[in-house]
Amino acid sequence: GETVRYESENAVDFDGVVATNHSGYSGSGFVDLLNDSNSYIEWVVNQADSGNATLTFRYANGTTANRPMTVSVNGQVAHSSVDFEGTGGWSSWDIQTVTVNLAAGSNVIRADATVSSGGPNFDYIEVSGGDGSSSSSS
Ligand code: GCU
Repeated sequence: GETVRYESENAVDFDGVVATNHSGYSGSGFVDLLNDSNSYIEWVVNQADSGNATLTFRYANGTTANRPMTVSVNGQVAHSSVDFEGTGGWSSWDIQTVTVNLAAGSNVIRADATVSSGGPNFDYIEVSGGDGSSSSSS
C-alpha cells in the first residue's frame, strides 16, 4: 500500500532540538532528543482507513548502547520496549519497524525514552498500510 513519510523536524512535539550536525538525514534536519529518561517525540499521522500499519523509524544512535523506547498510539502503549541499537555512528542511519493498529483519521504516535541516555536521533517515521489488509511485522 501507500507509504507516507513524516519528517521528525515537522513532528508535533518533542523534548529535544532540531539539528543538522550529522549528515545523511532527509528533509531539513533531524530531531536530537535530550539525554533524559523523560524525553519523547510525538508525530501526528493521518490514515484513510483503520487497521494494522507498519511504522518505520529512521534513526541514528552513535553509541554502542541500546536506547529502547516505549511506542504508544493515541495514548495507549502499543510496544513497551522498542530497541534502537547502536548504528555505528551519528551519521549512520538505520531503521526499526513495528506494527501498530491505527484508527481512521489522525493518530498520535509517541515514543518515550526508557533510559537515562534518552532516545536516539530521529530522521523520520514512515507509515505504510492502514487499509486493513496490511499484516507486515518485523
Ligand atoms: C552526541 C551527538 C548528538 C546525540 C548525542 C546523544 O552529542 O552529537 O547528535 O544526540 O550525542 O548522546 O544523544
